[in-house]
This record gives sequence, structure tokens and C-alpha cells, in this order.
Amino acid sequence: MNPARRSLEIVEHDEPQLGSATDVRLRLLEVGVCGTDREIAAFEYGDPPPGSEHLVIGHEALARVVDVGTGVTAVEPGALVVPMVRRPCPHASCRPCRSGRQDFCATGDFRERGIKQQHGYMAEAVVDDQEYMSLVPEELRPVAVLVEPLTIAEKALEQVRHIQRRLPWGTDGHTAVVLGAGPVGLLGAMALIVAGFETWVYSRSPAPNQKAAAAEAVGARYLSSETHSVDQLREEVGTIDLVYEAVGASKPAFDVLSVLGTNGVFVFTGVPGRKAPVEVDTDRLMRDLVLRNQVVLGSVNAGKGAFEEAIGHLREFDRRWPGAVRSLLTHHPIEAYEELLTGRAGGIKQVVDIGEEAS
Ligand code: BGC
Repeated sequence: MNPARRSLEIVEHDEPQLGSATDVRLRLLEVGVCGTDREIAAFEYGDPPPGSEHLVIGHEALARVVDVGTGVTAVEPGALVVPMVRRPCPHASCRPCRSGRQDFCATGDFRERGIKQQHGYMAEAVVDDQEYMSLVPEELRPVAVLVEPLTIAEKALEQVRHIQRRLPWGTDGHTAVVLGAGPVGLLGAMALIVAGFETWVYSRSPAPNQKAAAAEAVGARYLSSETHSVDQLREEVGTIDLVYEAVGASKPAFDVLSVLGTNGVFVFTGVPGRKAPVEVDTDRLMRDLVLRNQVVLGSVNAGKGAFEEAIGHLREFDRRWPGAVRSLLTHHPIEAYEELLTGRAGGIKQVVDIGEEAS
């Protein structure tokens, strides 16, 4: 992606070399495409690295280790890994970055591979420090490209657990509404079901459709906003304990916030584009937030712990619902990049196959 020329191209790069003792060279196998990539491809988001005119995109990756520096202890050649997205800022004062929690970077000077000031993974090979990758068991080879989008839900759920320690909340009998039935929403629904939530997916298109089928296959209930208003959603669910927003549009999100239950938590994970302002009944929202002890939370990116959790959970999802997890994926060759990044390619999660052993 070249913002100065407003172009999308395949470019030649030199083979990346190991720079430090803890560097690892990876051969990319698969890279997922998400809404962030499409925004970058529309030149609305994303920054090339300093000194480069273009940004290599791609941040949802599955790769194989091909070469390791002399100080690498965490991985060996041949291992399957999922690399992380965000790299810490350089400031000594940034406690999160200095503690390996750059997903909470306090300065904003973090970098993100494939998004902000660092090339991404839609390449044949990359080099990265061993610290920024997680080992994946070989049995997850067909689905592990979903690890990164699942980390968004893992981080969100971890925070919900922390927050709800504020009251005697218990661990079961809770309801969750997932807003949006894209990959982040459907993976979030699976994570919520495994965590014991009775889960609804609320999305635009009326059933039957592929996304509704995927939601129902994992035991979520699917409701369309075209056939059910938010009040009807609340009637169906009863008290809504948790909303996991994965739609990236503020209007439906704030509509659903207005039916959040007492002591409920609403987690925003979408990054909406700039559209016209929407009308919101702020008195009602503020009254409910206070009188019902509600929490509204924003969550972005994920730390190493969330990657490890996601790998464990993906294994569980794939055991419980093998067909459903795999039905999220459609594979494409790199030559299809323009259609994937600018058009509306079919399927739920589009994946670019890069390595020769691609499935
Ligand atoms: C990625 C995150 C990233 C965020 C903001 C998302 O698509 O999954 O890792 O932090 O975009 O750039």
C-alpha cells in the first residue's frame, strides 16, 4: 500500500536477514484479511515505516520458523508460530510497554506490523524477535490463522472478568450478546460459549445465511436487526449481562448499549470509519450507566497472554465444532489481493495462501 501514489502493488523486497541473536526468520504460510486491511487499502488508516513510501500490509499471520539466531531458545526451525501485531514504544516512562503490555501503550508511539510504521506479514519471509511469536501445535495448522482475530475476544474477556470482580457476579448463568457476525464476532461468540455464557449473535442480515449458520452451529442464537428491534432483542435475552461489539459501526452499537442490563458490561472492539454524526439519547444512557452500575469499555490489540489463550481455545473450538471453525475460512492466492482488499470477496474470513505447503 503506497499512500503517496494511492496504489496497491506487489513489490520486490530483499530476503530479510537475522539481525540480532534472538531474531527468528519466518516463512509465511497464511495471512488473514480484515476490515483494518481494507481501510488501509482505501488509504484511510495505516502508516508506512519511516523512510519507506509503502507499507507491506497483513497482521493476521501463520508462519513457519526457517532460521534462528544463536540466542533463540523459544522456537526451533520447523516450528509453527503466530506472530504478534504490536511492538512497544521506546519511552522509558511507558509502564505498559516496559512490562510487555504494549497493547496498553500509554504514549501512542507503539508500532504495529502491517498497520503502523512497520511492514506486515503479507510477504514470503519476515524476521522478528522470538519474544513476539507464539508456538502453535501442528494440529492447528488448518485454522491457526484465526488466532490473531480471536485474541481480540481473549483480551476483552480477561478484562470483563477483572471488572466483574467489583461485585458478587459468579461464574455461570450469564447472557452475552455479540454485535456483528464477522470473524471477530463469531470467534468472540465461540469464546463466550466456551466461557459458559448463553450467547446471542445480533447482526444485520436475516437468517438463513452463512454467518447465521456458523453462529447456530456453535450453539449461539442468531437474531437479525432487520427482524428484531433492540427491545425485542432484550425481550428474547432477558437481562443482557455482556455485549461484545464487533460490528465497527456506532449506530447499532449505541442502540444495543441502551438495552444493556443491570451490572452489565459493554465492550467496544470496532474502529468505525468517519461517517455522519448519529443521534443518541445521552440522558437515557447516562441514567442507566449510573442507576444500573454499568461499565462501558474499549479494547484494542492483545498481549502475549491473549495469544496463548487464543491458541488453547482454538484447539478446543476445533475439537467441539470442527466444521464450523473451518467454515469461516476461504483461501485465495496472493494474486487476488485487489479483490480481497477493495471488494467484497465472498465468505467470512478471507485468507491469502503464501507458502508452498498451503492447505
Ligand atoms: C488489529 C489490532 C490492532 C488494531 C488497531 C486490528 O485490526 O487486530 O491488532 O491493534 O487493528 O490498529
